[in-house]
Amino acid sequence: VSAAGTAQPTAGAVSNAPAVSKEVTILFGSQTGNCHGLAKKMSKQLEEQGFQVNVSAMSDFKANGLKKVQNLLVIISTHGEGDPPDNAISFHEFIHSKRAPQLEGTNFSVLALGDTSYEFFCQTGKDFDKRLEELGGKRIAPRVDCDVDFDEPAAEWMASVLNALNEASSAGAGAAVVSAAGTVAAVGAESEYSRTNPFMAEVLENLNLNGRGSDRETRHLELSLEGSNLQYEPGDSLGIYPENHPRLVEELIEAMGWNGDSPVVINKNGEERPLGEALLRHFEITVLTKSLIEKIATITLNNELTKLLENEQELRSYLNERDLLDLVQDYSLKGMSAREFIPLLRKMPARLYSISSSPTAFPDEVHLTVRTVRYESHGRQRYGVCSVQLAERIESGDKLPVYIQHNPNFKLPENPDAPIIMIGPGTGVAPFRAFLGEREENGAEGKSWLFYGDQHFSTDFLYQVEWQRWLKDGVLTRMDVAFSRDTDQKVYVQHRMLENSKELYAWLQEGAYVYVCGDEKRMAHDVHHALETIIQQEGGFSADEAAEYIARMQQQKRYQRDVY
Ligand code: 2AM
Repeated sequence: VSAAGTAQPTAGAVSNAPAVSKEVTILFGSQTGNCHGLAKKMSKQLEEQGFQVNVSAMSDFKANGLKKVQNLLVIISTHGEGDPPDNAISFHEFIHSKRAPQLEGTNFSVLALGDTSYEFFCQTGKDFDKRLEELGGKRIAPRVDCDVDFDEPAAEWMASVLNALNEASSAGAGAAVVSAAGTVAAVGAESEYSRTNPFMAEVLENLNLNGRGSDRETRHLELSLEGSNLQYEPGDSLGIYPENHPRLVEELIEAMGWNGDSPVVINKNGEERPLGEALLRHFEITVLTKSLIEKIATITLNNELTKLLENEQELRSYLNERDLLDLVQDYSLKGMSAREFIPLLRKMPARLYSISSSPTAFPDEVHLTVRTVRYESHGRQRYGVCSVQLAERIESGDKLPVYIQHNPNFKLPENPDAPIIMIGPGTGVAPFRAFLGEREENGAEGKSWLFYGDQHFSTDFLYQVEWQRWLKDGVLTRMDVAFSRDTDQKVYVQHRMLENSKELYAWLQEGAYVYVCGDEKRMAHDVHHALETIIQQEGGFSADEAAEYIARMQQQKRYQRDVY
């Protein structure tokens, strides 16, 4: 993926110039592609107003060009425990290091994407905002922190940045009047369907991939995209707007003493739906956020809630483990009317799944590989909203509201001869089924190596027959598996990597691309560590040198992760 936009500002244009030029640099850091999309949208708007724009992923930006940038816009998301996305790690480090230049001549503003259900909400955006000011930069528009539903706040940020740049722009000529309304136009899309206008996709197939006796249930879904004009590539994800569990909705309504038939407003346009339907489809009732609790505390003046808010640690574990039904019961919120309560809730966000089909092998279809999330805690059975809906309440012929979430950071090499190493235990294997399907269809000749793992060989070997066929046909060169619960000692994919370190390193030296998909907190972290060890051991490098080796791979897009 190459950066769009015009060349970087030259040094000559800068000397003695007034504070603002018509040149703008937009740097984005993006894991799922949302920030990339927003950067392109911002760029388009700026160009329409006569600005020259340079858009770049942070990983592609030459850091020593930073001091020449007069107008800098940062669009950045946050992951896990407040971490930058992969393609922003190096730049984030650079700007916080002593090597970072002074930025007295630089105007800047930051748009931060995040999720209020995480503790370190928008942390990376906050880091940049603070650091750019420390380095002497001038903040021309306040940072905006967006929750998962980012369209509106992002559009507002764009409007305020455009205003500020236009005002400050000494040229002024032709600077159009910017109205907020003018900037809310939908993100450019080829299909009429998008995150804000999902397509109703028919379910063609819904199977459990696990064998009898497995602890796990993993659904293979096939959906039809026929007539939608939606396009995707291997590595992209599908967003699904799920429905809450009807029983949870019923229990919530009962606990609050509400009437499920009474109408409530479901959006800013004032549209109304019966309460039961609103809670089923339109609002999030499983994931709690601090801001929700703050709002309820402010309205109800509930002492116990105020106490919970004051104890950071207790609040964290409450938010992580509980849902709305717990909250209304534990803090006796019965008595609040649905009309005052519902507007406090977050709009139901979509759930994203890595697509497991090759669009070339299955035109007009999209396949998913979804593990069903069920567990018991605090005396109640808990259900993953989307995965349990798919497992229990969706069958062939039903329709689901979906959209494509492009992921430019998880893509097959452009060169079909480049070797690829794929590490995907559990449902992390999904995109690799798409990768191999695509390579088979295109007759790609590059070598490929899959590391797969799950609990038991006999019941949990997802898509076993397909891998075996691809091995036989030479589409897949090598496969190493780690079934963690078939032996006394647990074996994981990273153990298989380490056992094969010599050969794996040889692949890296041949220019192999490494892909990791699946659990972030434990697996991806341990796999990263294994990769460092292999590079140190086989390349004779120090820890720092190995880290640099990986950073270089990242820069060349040869180390890509889709982790969650
Ligand atoms: P376990 O559940 O037996 O611990 C897919 O979920 C597979 O990933 C399972 O075999 C699971 O093993 C394994 N797994 C759990 N933690 C892991 C880690 N830190 N690194 C790699 N694999 C892990």
